Amino acid sequence: MAIANAFLPEASTTLPLRAAIADCLDRVIHGGGSLSREIEFSRQLIGDPREHGFFQECVYGTLREVFSLRQQLSGLMKKPLRKKELVIECLLLSGLYQLKAMSAAPHAVVNASVSACEALGRPWATGLVNAVLRNALRQAKAPASPNAPEDEARWNHPQWLIGKIRKAWPAQWEQILTAGNTHAPLTLRVNTRRNTVAAYAERLAIAGLEAEPMPESPSALMLLKPVSVNALPGFSEGDVSVQDAAAQLAAPLLEAAPHHRILDACAAPGGKTMHLLELLGDSPQLLALDISAERLASVEANATRLGVTCQLRQGDGTQRQDWWDGIAFDRILLDAPCSGTGVIRRHPDIKLHRQPEDLAAMVVMQRALLESLWTTLAPTGRLLYATCSILPMENEQLVASFCAEHPEAEAVALAGVWGRATAHGRQILTGEHQMDGFFYSLLVKHE
Ligand SMILES: C[S@@+](CC[C@H](N)C(=O)[O-])C[C@H]1O[C@@H](n2cnc3c(N)ncnc32)[C@H](O)[C@@H]1O
Repeated sequence: MAIANAFLPEASTTLPLRAAIADCLDRVIHGGGSLSREIEFSRQLIGDPREHGFFQECVYGTLREVFSLRQQLSGLMKKPLRKKELVIECLLLSGLYQLKAMSAAPHAVVNASVSACEALGRPWATGLVNAVLRNALRQAKAPASPNAPEDEARWNHPQWLIGKIRKAWPAQWEQILTAGNTHAPLTLRVNTRRNTVAAYAERLAIAGLEAEPMPESPSALMLLKPVSVNALPGFSEGDVSVQDAAAQLAAPLLEAAPHHRILDACAAPGGKTMHLLELLGDSPQLLALDISAERLASVEANATRLGVTCQLRQGDGTQRQDWWDGIAFDRILLDAPCSGTGVIRRHPDIKLHRQPEDLAAMVVMQRALLESLWTTLAPTGRLLYATCSILPMENEQLVASFCAEHPEAEAVALAGVWGRATAHGRQILTGEHQMDGFFYSLLVKHE
């Protein structure tokens, strides 16, 4: 766990902006916390809501560039910080990021970072923070650390992942890594039961928000400038949701109809479940399953916002005897837990948290889910396998191996203007058509 938190106040009190940034980064980088959760927590520590935008931009930006910032920092420090003082490393990394990439005045960055030491319970660090950031300002280019592997700092991804992506996509790896370090667009899914896409684009325009349609995904609109969801017309009434355009491909690909029995096997937080419900209309026979009760609560909250209903069930997809009534499903969506390598631009903490040894365990879980769910699929039924990964071992290779052992399984050719065809599906690489990296394979079960 991040040690710095022991010095910090409860969420009911406030922290200066730079201290809140350092605290949040410390929880993610050294405490192993998830960025989406920690950013929500730390945001509450900032008293002035006008600072929330700066806070978010700085935390995300520092994580995106953490490998090159670490290299720069190691060139500016005589010796590394002790383990229990690593929150100061986070303060320095975010300070370097502000000096390099944000619009704040350099002297203000230095002064505010120095003052943050006190709030972080580290008054001893003021001299160090002052010296390091002033040195950074003086040096047009900090000397590269001899210890930092060149590629990590250049591409801002861990070495092992650079290697895997390079091997899998020899012609596209640089483009994928570059895309992983960009800001993802805010893409909306228009609830077409409530408004047409054109009508909703009109509502956005009236609210002063510019958006573009996305030809690959008929319900999608991409905002040219991101805004908070509260600024989206009709958001709380369910007229629109936030969902990447690649994720919006799932529901139409499943070709589900109201008379089908449908299983959404890894449903939480419910983005694709809600899209299915929007397309299907009232009372479809849809069971939304997820292993996590906590995450399933988000599915419920989404359903309430959109005014739709479905059955929710907490359960492990690999243990069908615990939740399946024995009546076969006509359609199954298996949006499998995966490495998340296609969504790094939205979740830059994946670069720090994911370890190479996690991948084999993930493939075992994905295969176990596919094997278990396949037995619950009716003859002639369809199962859509999806991941937000760009690694073939979780995608094409996994489905190819499954089909080789299941002669009754056939991958349907997926026509589309998006991504590239693989032998058993289609792969979108991160950033292509402004989309997240995704893989889809549609399997039909022969009798
Ligand atoms: C990629 S996310 C699903 C995203 C979701 N389909 C959406 O569009 O919002 C994967 C989900 O699988 C769930 N999960 C992981 N292992 C599972 C298992 N053995 N059985 C059921 N759900 C599982 C996780 O809790 C997580 O919510």
